[in-house]
Amino acid sequence: MISKIKQYRKEEDIPQKSMINGSSVNVERLYYTISPTCEKKKLPETINFIDLFCGIGGFRYACRQAFEKLGIQGRCMFSSDIDKFAQESYAANFNEKPVGDITKIDEKEIPDFNLLFAGFPCQAFSICGLQKGFEDNTKGTLFFDIARILKEKQPNAFILENVKNLASHDGGRTFDTIIHVLEDELGYFVDHKVLNALDFGLPQKRERIIIIGAKKPFSMDWEFNVEKKQTLEDILEKDVDKKYHASKEIVEKRKQKHTSASMPSIWHENKSGNISSYPYSCALRAGASYNYLLVNGERRLTPREMMRLQGFPEEFKIVVSDTQARKQAGNAIPINMVEKVIEKFVPLVF
Ligand SMILES: C[S@@+](CC[C@H](N)C(=O)[O-])C[C@H]1O[C@@H](n2cnc3c(N)ncnc32)[C@H](O)[C@@H]1O
Repeated sequence: MISKIKQYRKEEDIPQKSMINGSSVNVERLYYTISPTCEKKKLPETINFIDLFCGIGGFRYACRQAFEKLGIQGRCMFSSDIDKFAQESYAANFNEKPVGDITKIDEKEIPDFNLLFAGFPCQAFSICGLQKGFEDNTKGTLFFDIARILKEKQPNAFILENVKNLASHDGGRTFDTIIHVLEDELGYFVDHKVLNALDFGLPQKRERIIIIGAKKPFSMDWEFNVEKKQTLEDILEKDVDKKYHASKEIVEKRKQKHTSASMPSIWHENKSGNISSYPYSCALRAGASYNYLLVNGERRLTPREMMRLQGFPEEFKIVVSDTQARKQAGNAIPINMVEKVIEKFVPLVF
């Protein structure tokens, strides 16, 4: 879907969108904010944000890094994650324990904010999940918790993240419903794009859909300049504990089936047992089998390597077991990718 505002050419093309509080948008004001201007816009000194489904804080790092470049001070007003180990990791790194189940939080109790981040749970939408979408009452409907918070708090903007497959789930109906709620029921201007972490300097093929929305119209340019590119050599640790090595049988079996064209490489086993290898990692997954990815067909990735593949800084403290760290890294967002989106999007809508 193309951003609505890109299609507006004439004033009469601009729809009068009804807002959820009953008042309507000032169309004239909206239209003239589209007009190009040579003046350099002054960004706010501070932006208050909330971090929903925060996991281990991927959005928070991306925001911190982007805001640093933009000269904005970010203030996190509220964070939420139901998982006790994710809460532990978040607390260790941000000195703040996220509140639990968002479905139990009254939206009126959430402090005011102007920017909402949410990488909402994707199991119900991903190819590997059960393809239930909104019919899955526990996971698919968590989008509606985002919607009720947007409705109550009316922030200037939001950035949502999900698996690429969200757009095609149920013949596109799930995604259409999400966009319909955001645009028509909540009155936001919305755009979206599938981005790949590989294009943002991380050696991980991870395609994710990013949905951005704002109260005022905007025209997002989804081309990004990426200065810093990391290779597997930059990511992989030199001395790795023996416990990460796969058994002799597994290594032999993989090497009988496959020869890698590059070194180092990450070997990937798909659901049917086929092996492929690349000079980058396939997408980290929270619920993948133990030996799904093997460095040079021989050993598993360490927690630190997985965090690096998602762009987490070296100072990120890993305070949970290897199993939990694997799940947390597999759930996280590629920080470098989201940082670039925030850096470009925020000046358009604040
Ligand atoms: C895809 S992950 C998001 C990870 C995050 N963006 C990051 O960078 O680490 C989704 C998160 O939603 C959390 N979650 C699932 N159901 C929830 C609920 N009802 N309330 C709050 N958090 C929930 C999960 O524990 C998981 O950490």
